[in-house]
Amino acid sequence: MKRTLFIALLFTVVAGFVFADTQVGIVLPTKDEPRWIQDQTRFLDALKSAGFSAKVLFSQGDSAKEKANVEALISEKIKVLIICPQDGTAAAAAADLAHKAGVKVISYDRLIRDTTSVDYYVTFDSFMVGKAWGDYLNSKVPAGSKGNNLYLYAGAASDNNAFIFFEGAWSALQPKIADGTYIVRNSDKAVALKNKAKLTRDEEAQIIGQVTTNWNFNDAKNKAEANLTAAPKEAKGTVYICAPNDGTARAIADAFAADKDVKTYYITGQDAEIASIQYIIDGKQSMTVLKDVRTLVNDAINAAVAYMKGQTPPVTSYYNNGKKDVPAKPTAIVTVTKDNVKKEIVDSGYWPADKFTGLK
Ligand code: GAL
Repeated sequence: MKRTLFIALLFTVVAGFVFADTQVGIVLPTKDEPRWIQDQTRFLDALKSAGFSAKVLFSQGDSAKEKANVEALISEKIKVLIICPQDGTAAAAAADLAHKAGVKVISYDRLIRDTTSVDYYVTFDSFMVGKAWGDYLNSKVPAGSKGNNLYLYAGAASDNNAFIFFEGAWSALQPKIADGTYIVRNSDKAVALKNKAKLTRDEEAQIIGQVTTNWNFNDAKNKAEANLTAAPKEAKGTVYICAPNDGTARAIADAFAADKDVKTYYITGQDAEIASIQYIIDGKQSMTVLKDVRTLVNDAINAAVAYMKGQTPPVTSYYNNGKKDVPAKPTAIVTVTKDNVKKEIVDSGYWPADKFTGLK
C-alpha cells in the first residue's frame, strides 16, 4: 500500500514536472542569423530569475513552423506569447490563434502586421538605426564634394523593420542624393525617387526589392558581386555602402575589398555581432549599431509579468501595423566605431574582451 502510494506520488511529481504548463512562450525566427542566438542566450540568462516558466522555440525561417510552434505553446496553456515573426504579415494568423485562446501577444523586435491581435511591441528605435547609418556615411563624405559612390542594401522585404531602417537611412541620405553629393550606383528606383524626402511604403518596397539581401549572407555576397560586375570603374574608387546588418555587412565588405578598383570603402551594420566587432577593430567594417538585447529581453519579460498580473506594460509610443496602432516602448541605440568600441562593447559588459584580438 505504502509502496503503491509512493509510486503514485512519484508519478504525479514527475508528470507535474514534465507536463507542467508553460506560462510564457518565446518564438524566435531562426538560428541561422546570429542576432537571434544573441536573443536566445540573453533570454535564457534573464529567465533564470524571472519567476515564471518559459520556453524558447525557433521557427527556422518558416512561417508554417512558426504557427506550429505557437499552436504547441497554446496547448501548453501559455498566458503570454513573445514572438519575433519570420514574416511580419504571415505571422498574423499565429497571433490571431493565440489571441483567440486568450493569450496576450507581444511582438518582439519585429512587428506583426495587418492584425489587431498584437497587444504590445518591444523594439529598438529602428528609425534611428537607419538614420545612424546615413549620418555615419555623411560624416565621411568630404565637405562640398559631389558624385560620391553610394551603394544601398536592405533587409528582407518580409520584415517590417527593413522598411523602418530604410526610412531612417533615407531621411539622412536623400538630401545628399538629391543635391548630387552622392550618386546611387545600384538602384535605378532610388535614383528615380531621389527628390522625394518621404517615400510611400510602396516606393520603399520598389527600392528594397532591388537591393534586398533577405538578411542572408550569401544573397548579400551575390548581390554585391553582381553590383560590382555591373559598375563602371568610375563607380568604384571610394565607396559608401549602406549595409543593413552585421552578417550582410561582412559579406558585402569582403566583396568590395576583393575588387581591385575599390580603393576605400565605408560600410555600416547593426547588431554588434562578435565577428563584426572584430571587423571593426581590424578596419574591415566601419561601424555597427549596438542594440542592447539585454534591454529588449528585460522589457519583454517585464511586459509578460505585467500581463500575468493583470496590468499593462509602459507605453511611450505607437507603431501602426496596417490594422492597429500598437503600443510600444522603443529602446535607444548606440553607434559603435573603432573610436568607442572598447567603451561601448567591452567596458559596458556587452561582450568580454577575450572574444577579440587587437583591442586597444
Ligand atoms: C531584423 C533585426 C536586426 C537583424 C535582422 C536579421 O529584424 O532587427 O537586428 O538582425 O532582423 O536577422
